[in-house]
Amino acid sequence: MQTEILGNIKSVNKRGNVLIIKTNEAVARIWVYDNSIIRINVSKSLDENDTSFAVIQNPANRFDYTESADEVVLTTSVLKLRVSKSPLRFNFYTAGGKVLSEDDERFGINWQDERVINYRKLHLDEKFIGLGEKTGNLNRRGSSYVNWNTDAALHGVDADPLYKTFPFFIGLHSGLTYGLFFDNTHKSYFDFGATTDEQMSWFGADGGDMNYYFFGAQSVTKIMEDYTWLTGRMEMPPLWSLGYQQCRWSYMSAAEVLDIAENFRKEKIPADVIYCDIDYMDEFKIFTWNKETFPDPKGLIDKLKAINFRLVTIVDPGIKIEPGYKQYDEGVANGYFATYPNGKKYVANVWPGRCHFPDFFREDVREWWGASFTALTEPCVEGFWNDMNEPAAWGQNIPWMVKFGEHYMPEVRNAYGMQMARATYEGTKRLLGNKRPFVLTRAAYSGTQRYSAVWTGDNSAYDAHMLLGQRMVNSLGITGMSLIGVDIGGFTGDPTPALMVRWNSLGVYTPMFRNHAMQGTKMREPWCWGKENEAIIKKDIELRYRLLPYIYSGFYQSHKTGMPLSRTLAINYTNDENVFDVKYQNQFLFGDAILVAPVESTKFIEDVYLPADEWYRLSTDEKFTGGRSIIADAPLTDLPVFIKAGAIIPMQNIIQSTNEKGDGILEINVWYGNEANSFVYYEDDGLTYDYEKGDYYKRVISFDPGKRMISFSEVEGSFVSKYDKIKLVLHGFTTNTRGLKIKGTMKVSGSQALTFANDRLMIKIEY
Ligand code: GLC
Repeated sequence: MQTEILGNIKSVNKRGNVLIIKTNEAVARIWVYDNSIIRINVSKSLDENDTSFAVIQNPANRFDYTESADEVVLTTSVLKLRVSKSPLRFNFYTAGGKVLSEDDERFGINWQDERVINYRKLHLDEKFIGLGEKTGNLNRRGSSYVNWNTDAALHGVDADPLYKTFPFFIGLHSGLTYGLFFDNTHKSYFDFGATTDEQMSWFGADGGDMNYYFFGAQSVTKIMEDYTWLTGRMEMPPLWSLGYQQCRWSYMSAAEVLDIAENFRKEKIPADVIYCDIDYMDEFKIFTWNKETFPDPKGLIDKLKAINFRLVTIVDPGIKIEPGYKQYDEGVANGYFATYPNGKKYVANVWPGRCHFPDFFREDVREWWGASFTALTEPCVEGFWNDMNEPAAWGQNIPWMVKFGEHYMPEVRNAYGMQMARATYEGTKRLLGNKRPFVLTRAAYSGTQRYSAVWTGDNSAYDAHMLLGQRMVNSLGITGMSLIGVDIGGFTGDPTPALMVRWNSLGVYTPMFRNHAMQGTKMREPWCWGKENEAIIKKDIELRYRLLPYIYSGFYQSHKTGMPLSRTLAINYTNDENVFDVKYQNQFLFGDAILVAPVESTKFIEDVYLPADEWYRLSTDEKFTGGRSIIADAPLTDLPVFIKAGAIIPMQNIIQSTNEKGDGILEINVWYGNEANSFVYYEDDGLTYDYEKGDYYKRVISFDPGKRMISFSEVEGSFVSKYDKIKLVLHGFTTNTRGLKIKGTMKVSGSQALTFANDRLMIKIEY
């Protein structure tokens, strides 16, 4: 094996919008994508056409640089890249010259045969966050990780690798911030000062180029905005997917599916979604229904619709080898399956037995796959769960000679699941016409947010998994994903009733709220835990439905800016050391205003860290000063949840499904604070793409304690709100409040609530 280190520069040329630098070992290219984003690609085998699965933007046309005997310097309004010539090293600074991140002078970028690595200097106080779905602490300093999408069945709380690859992290030191996205789909490695001498961190891959994007914005929020500008943002999700989802491997028949759904209505527990796991199929053949147990899919779905339930069905990539089975015959006839270089089709065992695997890297295959969903869309399925797409191949490593598209398996394995989700999303979007499909995938690569929601795979019914799940949700949020679920209750094993109740209460604040369990485990539905526990679970699910207007507006933020719904406190309180303390690292903000402290099911008080701000406990309106930790009561009936002072939270009355209109009152809750605040309220039909044509309802709600005023801006967009009335509810306002008065008209004296028409024009309320 040969080690090579990037040596001295031999030439520097600017060609169009790229700076090309040559050394004896490699060619380096530099592009400026935006003032705060610079891309570096260092390659030993230059391929000018290096397309990316993740990136959807093009570089900017112009940039400025200067060249001297020692270095080349590129400067934007945000970043300075100093490229030293002997040897070639890449060092990033703020425009003002503060060090953000520098190559290790000795080793910089180097290779061992095809393996490519970049060693970077480690700062004494440097912290790292990101990498998406990874175990370990919020601060990844001292840890190392591998990206190799894996069917991590029965994984423990320290397992690595897991199902997904998000090679993007944010570095924090000296009060500065930077981001780095290593866009390389080979097996990749990240070491945040774990195995080195505390002087270096490094990342690398088994092959491909040293191809990375450096983000220089000076806030975690802006870096995340830049990363999601580069790799895309989610569309508005169907509103129904934000309601409560009930899943199981498997409800074994149409009768059982219907029975479960009906029971939610009988028990008056709100829910929107029920799932069919693999057993709805005929011998696990994708795009089929079991004729005995699911004889009339359309009939089943009609009945579910009549009680406001939607059905989501699972699809796996493995196509059963069985002549006469439509997808097998078509795949063979058209050469749609992954093969060895000699054209022989690759075979592996998964649920159906011996299978071939669609080559989702080819457009014709994606189109064929997408069109096959008629078997599900004709009976009106609107949600499509993509599983086993790492891809899983039981008992074996997929041989390296297997080809996906133009590539060998090891080159693109990490993007296979993403390409399956893409094929599913694009196909079902075409089939559903103007309706939004809901796609959920287990395997993913950076950019998957454009196509699909994700969940964190097969967790277990332990407290430690519940806490890890929350950290993974928060971490996936840093890497562009917002619609994220974990199997509430734990997939494997049986939760204690206390764990079930506790986990469900955290589910209220999980972007995708889905209860799922493995075959052979105890039934998990809310009524399986005794009357008392059922009542708690029901109340929590009701709270989720009360919060849906806030949650939907939160997803609008994800759609527009990439800010996820569940946010590690490191995003907003980056310079507060306490948020990285392992005691507090699971805490998160759910949207702009709600702080949630996960608590194990065996603890009934919790040490909660409240960052510098003022906070109100949601359940009591009790007020707390932040910048300190408190001991919070945490009975199973009341997860410690705090509202930031000044918060504006839209809620609605309890409905049984998102299909119900409810009482038509949008409740705007405001918690008193000393500082002005505003909230972007967003609503649309929750179902179609009409919002892209302006059919939405959006207004800014502002609270100004200086002016003693709460105001609603004029409505933007043509959508007519489903709420006819607005009810303003105040929390924590002082007793000398003079009463509420709509400016110039009605006054409600001495009241903390006021109801008025949901007028489209500007509304101002004095108190
Ligand atoms: C995998 C999935 C799990 C599913 C099961 C059966 O283990 O991760 O969610 O229930 O397969 O399809």
